[in-house]
Amino acid sequence: MSVPHNRLPPQLRTGIYAVVAALLLSGLGWLLVAYALAPADEPTPAPHRWAGPLLAVHGSLAYAGLLLCALVGQVHLRVGWRRPEVRRRAVLLVATLLALALSGLGFYYAADEELLPWLRWSHVALGLLLPVALALHVARGRRMSRP
Ligand code: HEM
Ligand code: HEM
Repeated sequence: MSVPHNRLPPQLRTGIYAVVAALLLSGLGWLLVAYALAPADEPTPAPHRWAGPLLAVHGSLAYAGLLLCALVGQVHLRVGWRRPEVRRRAVLLVATLLALALSGLGFYYAADEELLPWLRWSHVALGLLLPVALALHVARGRRMSRP
C-alpha cells in the first residue's frame, strides 16, 4: 500500500531551504557589520559600507521567500491539515512567517524611532526561530509519511 505524503516539488523545497538560509545569513551579516564591527566610538547600528547592500539583499530575499511560501499552495495546506499530528508545528511555522512579514513591513512604516529597537530585536528573534520551526515542521511531517 502506498504511504500518504504531502511532498513539495523538489525545486520548490530546495528553493525554500536556500532562501531561508540566505535570509538568515544576510540578516545575521547585517547584525555583524552594524554591531560587532562598529568602531568603538560610533553609535550602533553603525553605517558600515556593507550594511546598506546587505539590507537591500535581505529585503529582496524577503519578497522571494514570501513568493515561495505562496507557491506552497493550498493543496499542501489542505492535505497536511487533515493530519492532526502535524497541525501544531504547521501553525508555528505559518505564524512565524506571518510575524516576520509583518515586523519586516514595520521597518518601512514605523514612524516612531523608539519603536525601532523593539521591532529589530523581535524580528531577529523570529528570524532565529524560522529555521527551527521549518526543521520541526519537516521532521514531523516526514515521520508521518514514512512507511
Ligand atoms: C497548514 C499549514 C501546513 C501544513 C498542515 C503542512 C503539512 C506538511 C506535511 C504533512 C508535510 C510532510 C510531507 C511528506 O513528507 O510527505 C510537510 C512538509 C513540508 N512542508 Fe508543510 N505544511 C504546512 C505549511 C507549510 C508552509 C507555509 C511551508 C513553507 C515554508 C511548508 C513547507 C514544507 C516543506 C519544505 C516540507 C518538506 C517537503 C518535502 O520533503 O518534500 N509547509 N508539510
Ligand atoms: C520570511 C522571513 C523574513 C522576512 C519576510 C524579512 C523581512 C525583512 C524586511 C522587509 C526588512 C527591512 C529591510 C530594509 O529595511 O530594507 C528586514 C530587516 C531585517 N531582518 Fe528580516 N526578514 C526575514 C527573515 C529574517 C531572518 C531569518 C533574520 C535573521 C536573524 C532577519 C534579520 C533582519 C535584520 C537584522 C534586519 C535589519 C533590522 C533593522 O534595519 O533595524 N530577518 N527583514
